Amino acid sequence: MKSSRKIPVVTIDGPGGSGKGTVSQLLAARLGWHYLDSGALYRVLGLMAQRCGISLDDEPALCRLAETLKITFVPQADGSPAQVTVDGKDVSNELRTETTGELASRVAVLLAVRTTLLQKQRDFRQNPGLITDGRDMGTTVFPDALLKVFLTASPEVRAERRYKQLKEKGFNANLGLILGEIRHRDARDTGRSVSPLKPADDAWILDCSTLSLTEVVETVSRRLQARLAETQTATR
Ligand code: DC
Repeated sequence: MKSSRKIPVVTIDGPGGSGKGTVSQLLAARLGWHYLDSGALYRVLGLMAQRCGISLDDEPALCRLAETLKITFVPQADGSPAQVTVDGKDVSNELRTETTGELASRVAVLLAVRTTLLQKQRDFRQNPGLITDGRDMGTTVFPDALLKVFLTASPEVRAERRYKQLKEKGFNANLGLILGEIRHRDARDTGRSVSPLKPADDAWILDCSTLSLTEVVETVSRRLQARLAETQTATR
């Protein structure tokens, strides 16, 4: 067994707009653990492919691009999305748009792309621990995670949240369009044959439609403390 396996990982998977990114970052900041936003990797790839004129179904070219991109995350202590740089340039604002989400969802269906990004994601497993969010963190990337959460909320609640986020940032937003895009992306993420969006068999499913952000962070945090205590007892 590789020694990195002993480093605790918490996976927070779920559909877009469920708040998993914010919850993960707040937890990581609270614990002083590392954080990986796996969706940002797919977003960067989709965005850079478009900028470089690479077709979104040209798997070999997308994989070559994925291998060369130098991506850094600067987490924000208030839970707002991490600042993301690609080859030293800040792309944070372009990454969060619905257009980039759509590009990401299209490159994310490709097996070779997912395989290329697998080790990049596993490299984030560093001491003292990792909090990571995405679609397949618990099922595929970190199947031996200490705690697997599947965070979900109704499409309407998620659309409303995304609408507010965009408005707050000064972007033009249309609630009906966002809801349509969320439903469309859910269908693609859930229906694809490679690493589809679904809870791991041993995931804890948490519907946060009626919970505040603070309640979700507190609930997950308590569950994690219980898991850490269990593993300490087991190794004694
Ligand atoms: O979480 P997000 O909205 O930033 O994700 C963008 C897209 O990337 C989403 O449509 C599905 C894909 N994705 C994925 O397939 N696997 C992941 N682990 C994370 C994201």
